[in-house]
Amino acid sequence: MKNKKQLLATDLDGTFVGDKDALGRLLEYFNSSPEEVALIYVTGRHLSSARALMAEEGLPLPDLLITDVGTSIYHTDGLEDINWKQDMQEDWQPGMVAEIAAAFPALERQELPDDRRVSFTVTDDIGAVDEFRKALDAEAIPHTFIFSSNRDIDILPSRAGKGNALEYVLRKYARDDVKLLIAGDSGNDRDMLSLGHPSVIVGNAQAELLEMEPCKNLFRANENCAGGIHEAWLHFYGEGRKSVG
Ligand code: GLC
Ligand code: MG
Repeated sequence: MKNKKQLLATDLDGTFVGDKDALGRLLEYFNSSPEEVALIYVTGRHLSSARALMAEEGLPLPDLLITDVGTSIYHTDGLEDINWKQDMQEDWQPGMVAEIAAAFPALERQELPDDRRVSFTVTDDIGAVDEFRKALDAEAIPHTFIFSSNRDIDILPSRAGKGNALEYVLRKYARDDVKLLIAGDSGNDRDMLSLGHPSVIVGNAQAELLEMEPCKNLFRANENCAGGIHEAWLHFYGEGRKSVG
């Protein structure tokens, strides 16, 4: 990836995926670029679910795949970045998280292949989300709390999250001077969109992102999904926009 001068790091559902025609146009635009564009998918899905979506939608193979809301990083051949994995385990107590959650019947635990994150779905009693957050804090359980789409709660190891995983990947695998765009549509994308790198909130984003305070290099697209990524790419790197500040 170090040889690629351009890089798109994008969420999948509701961002890269969601408008097939717009995605076709974006990929055509990238393919016509004289410089290759590296791709990193940064998704809330677990590995096999992300792979299933990639196959279903016929997505291009990414250079790297960050899954499970930034708790895991995989190379194209399926090899995991073990340093990241080990770092995530350090103060992680998934059993304690599950135990505390058991007091909140409104939280339905998501079935996941392992406990590198502990996730829930909440439907009717949204008040339970804050109560759960307080209970985790009261017990001083090290964690990162992510609430997305008014539905999904992800409890992650303290140093996880899409933003931290992406920063790690950029430091380790990308050129320092890479032309970068980061794209997302919901709460689990917030930390990576706030890093200060050129970033886009796509037009169809969830309320929690539409409410985000303006921050450096954060662009709000009018277009939805891949159309919004295309719009932002032109905003940051289109003709006459050679530098980003
Ligand atoms: C995706 C994942 C789900 C997660 C959600 C929010 O939908 O499949 O497990 O909770 O993203 O991060
Ligand atoms: Mg999304």
